[in-house]
Amino acid sequence: MSNGRIGWNLVTGSSDFAAMNFGMPGLPEHDLRYDMAEEYFDVVDKLWRSWEPGAIVADRKSGVLVDPSKVHAVNHEGRFYNTRGPLNCGPAPQGRPVIAQAGGSPRGRSFAGHYADTIVAHPKASTA
Ligand SMILES: Cc1cc2nc3c(=O)[nH]c(=O)nc-3n(C[C@H](O)[C@H](O)[C@H](O)COP(=O)(O)O)c2cc1C
Repeated sequence: MSNGRIGWNLVTGSSDFAAMNFGMPGLPEHDLRYDMAEEYFDVVDKLWRSWEPGAIVADRKSGVLVDPSKVHAVNHEGRFYNTRGPLNCGPAPQGRPVIAQAGGSPRGRSFAGHYADTIVAHPKASTA
């Protein structure tokens, strides 16, 4: 619908009530949330990359929609997440959305610097 014009606010959450909506008793501990987010993004990125450019053939004449040689399993087995892959739908035109982050803690700023395309600066005083 948007031709891939979409962003993802890749934050780690701040509300125990939001965590309860996903069956958790509350949010995991602060830095653990960033450990989880790092692996989560790595997994999602692998899924986005599981379709090579040109995988969607969409040729009416031959009746071929997808070239299976260009779609690959991910087989990620990590600390928090497991996924076989590949992504069960085709990739976005740009490959991935724009990633935003808003961490203000030392760990949050490090995460944002590593993964985000754009950062909402929300700095906190640091003793580090
Ligand atoms: C501009 C902005 C937008 C945010 N949006 C959300 C949101 O949509 N959902 C959410 O759970 N937390 C949101 N947060 C809170 C973040 O999850 C996080 O708690 C905050 O960035 C603090 O990170 P830090 O603990 O690394 O300082 C947002 C924070 C900011 C500054």
